[in-house]
Amino acid sequence: MARDKVVLAYSGGLDTSVAVKWINETYDLDVIAYTCDLGQGQDIEAIRQKALRTGAVEAIAEDVRNLFVDFFCIPSLMAGALYEGKYPLATALGRPLIAQLMVRVAKQHGAVAVAHGCTGKGNDQVRFDVTFQTLNPALKIIAPVREWKWTRTQEVEYANKHGIEIEATKKSIYSTDQNLWGRSIEAGTLEDPWIEPASDAFQWTVDPQLAPNEPEEVTIEFERGRPIALNGTAMGAAELIASLNTIAGRHGVGRIDHVENRLVGIKSREIYEAPAAVVLHEAHREIEFLTLSKEALRFKTYVSQQYSDLIYNGLWFSALHQDLMAFVVSNQQYVSGTARVKLFKGHAAISGRKSEHSLYRHELATYDEGDQYDSSAAQGFIKIHGLSQTTQAKFQMLTGAGARRLELPSIIPPSDEIR
Ligand code: ARG
Repeated sequence: MARDKVVLAYSGGLDTSVAVKWINETYDLDVIAYTCDLGQGQDIEAIRQKALRTGAVEAIAEDVRNLFVDFFCIPSLMAGALYEGKYPLATALGRPLIAQLMVRVAKQHGAVAVAHGCTGKGNDQVRFDVTFQTLNPALKIIAPVREWKWTRTQEVEYANKHGIEIEATKKSIYSTDQNLWGRSIEAGTLEDPWIEPASDAFQWTVDPQLAPNEPEEVTIEFERGRPIALNGTAMGAAELIASLNTIAGRHGVGRIDHVENRLVGIKSREIYEAPAAVVLHEAHREIEFLTLSKEALRFKTYVSQQYSDLIYNGLWFSALHQDLMAFVVSNQQYVSGTARVKLFKGHAAISGRKSEHSLYRHELATYDEGDQYDSSAAQGFIKIHGLSQTTQAKFQMLTGAGARRLELPSIIPPSDEIR
């Protein structure tokens, strides 16, 4: 009788290769290896072949770059999603899509389980598991690396014993993950937050000090919050991101050093390279400054934070996400225009912006000819604006000799009182 099947998220690395055999033995299941191209720059056909050599009964590899960009990266850009104000969420955005595609493959092949190679300490296990549980609660979840608790030596021994290919090249001291939206690098010497990342941590960006001595300017055109053209050439978002990764990367733009708060309670030091994401967020925000009202901008910062927390925490398929997205799409209706960004030695600085929906009005702002702002209305406005404060000053003596001083109570009772 044929064995039951499991769909494994297969990267071609040691962990997931060993996992194929380990799942066979431990759970008596046949493995369908699933690999997708999110723009990580790997040969997914070669990975598929390796999966078959490693013992998978079936191996599927698909290019889903456009899905990833259109439904994950660009919406996150429109939402202004930077986790803790820094991380553009490349890895976090990829996980729900991979998990969703695996659930679909499980259905097509009648698999009873899904599996991934995440450890038990990170956020990625949460993103995978929550997505599986949401989209198909009947699937059993297997997480070999979380379950086997081996040291690397034990894992290599297991691989050797079962004739599993180990890459001839020395394994990087870092743990990395990458897709079109960015590259995540952790572990090794990066675990000391005081130590500057060594140059070998980076692959997409040059050392800013060694970047060209001449700045390079790029123009990015947005339509309702979506980037549609780079340097005057209309292009699809995936192509635009890929080109911008190259251009900004050669100026050392897009390096991020973050001590971040993981969902699982740990603080961890993470390095990111996200040249395109950094430039696009900068450019997009500038078009927002031009086209959103003051109130919309303020409210948007709150939405951006909620949105990025939700993505980071693996709650992509939640109702709140849909609600926030409805706001974002509506909020972006007039976020159209062009931004000029200068790239120079690690920095991306706005140098100009324009929009046909601009709320920046020269006739209101100018100190020169053509001023249409009614300055005579200012005096009355200031009186009313400051009225509550001037009233307090008059009747409650906020300043001067008669002013009351606050005595602040301690918020923590002396320790002997709690014991
Ligand atoms: N800290 C990031 C996140 O939680 C990146 C994790 C990337 N994983 C890795 N193997 N480096 O989204």
